[in-house]
Amino acid sequence: MAAAGSGHENWSSRSAFILAAVGSAVGLGNMWRFPAEAGENGGGAFVLFYIFCVLLIGLPVLLSEVLIGRHGQANAPESVRRVARDSNAPEGWSVLASMGVFAAFLILSFYCVVGGWVVYYIGVFANDLVQTGLAGGAFEGRAPDDIEGLLPGLFGNGGLMVGLNLGFLVVTMFFVARGVSSGIEWVAVYLMPLFFLLFLAITIYGAFTGNFSDAVSYLFTFDFSKLTGEVMLAAVGQAFFSLSLGVAGMMTYGAYANRDTNLGETSGIIASADTGVALLAGLAIFPIVFAAGLSASAGPGLMFQSLPIAFQAMPFGSLIGLAFFVMVFFAALTSSVSLLEAPTAYVFEKFNISRSVATVIVGAGAAVLGVLSALSFNDLAGFYPLSFIPIFAETNFFDTLDGVTAKLFMPIGAILTCIFVGWIADAKLIDSENGLDGLLHKTWRALVRYVCPIVLTVILYVGLFG
Ligand code: PFF
Repeated sequence: MAAAGSGHENWSSRSAFILAAVGSAVGLGNMWRFPAEAGENGGGAFVLFYIFCVLLIGLPVLLSEVLIGRHGQANAPESVRRVARDSNAPEGWSVLASMGVFAAFLILSFYCVVGGWVVYYIGVFANDLVQTGLAGGAFEGRAPDDIEGLLPGLFGNGGLMVGLNLGFLVVTMFFVARGVSSGIEWVAVYLMPLFFLLFLAITIYGAFTGNFSDAVSYLFTFDFSKLTGEVMLAAVGQAFFSLSLGVAGMMTYGAYANRDTNLGETSGIIASADTGVALLAGLAIFPIVFAAGLSASAGPGLMFQSLPIAFQAMPFGSLIGLAFFVMVFFAALTSSVSLLEAPTAYVFEKFNISRSVATVIVGAGAAVLGVLSALSFNDLAGFYPLSFIPIFAETNFFDTLDGVTAKLFMPIGAILTCIFVGWIADAKLIDSENGLDGLLHKTWRALVRYVCPIVLTVILYVGLFG
């Protein structure tokens, strides 16, 4: 264990690092946000642009972030400061990571609200399984409206929403307080393999029982007329959210990586695993939704409302529903742990306090914001905190945090990271960390120096003002 504030822990192995980073990347973003965003933004055009964003922007930024962390071996702002110092560059660049740490904290607060919904559905399906037994579909004899009404029913119950949110947050805090190897790594090493097992089973099940071909053509038919500025910004925001970028999360995890880990290769594995899970999640969810004759553009309701209705018609529906939400819970927990770790590492190293105390301080802050998010579905429904900004004119507290972090903090954080790594930091230092050579190295460098900052700035501008 590290001493209060000063010591530094490392992952116990390269595979532990990969599992933890994949655990951070794979989460509600893949299972809940990706299908919702794809469905709301017209399917194929969004998906294609999303893949483009992952390859040309997400992957180079991911490598840049873990590289900064590994060189710095400290919390994200301190790591940037160390890279700047070793490059004789202004240490003020650390602000890019301070913004990131703050954004991670904001995301954590509303992420745990959705984590709470997942816990609620675990309860609903477990109860249903006990009531109706294994064989039949879920929710026997209940009307679809009734099943769809479960989520608004939960939203209407402010006390339950807050309780579930805080419960999810406290579980996250428990693992972060235990530290890198016995907490964060433990969750990843045990839960991620379980996640993949359940995920595979459900995807195969969905492919055989659902309307697979409609889902494939929906997700992979590209209609370029649908590729508007807003769709592009949504795709870039989703790529960043899904890969945990622009918010210091991957810098923080990179800081626990050993010197002999090849970061280029590792980043490739993380990005492939995350994108694979997102696409497969679409291929697992949409066939089930189409087979039940439901709409693809149900947005955030897709996973929580359409899918449970679809489970009704399926053999072993309650068991599949339960397995599905347990799987999502595992994915969400390994992500929320990384969201809490980024600000916690900053607080305990900066103020030289113990990890546990820092966890409680950050967790308490997230709890306050989380309560406001949870209540924005009921008591605070009419509260639009950024109503003076046109794109947030009618967005409640929860959606405002989601929008501000994915559409502003993440792209801006990434632009600054690219400029820092591509132009400011010492090229030799960067080259010695990235694990790339030859053409791959040249390509990565060109992407970080030119393509990413320019494309991101254009997309940001068009998405906000175009
Ligand atoms: N990547 C996570 C997901 O897809 O659910 C969310 C996330 C985790 C974003 C950690 C940012 C982060 F630092």
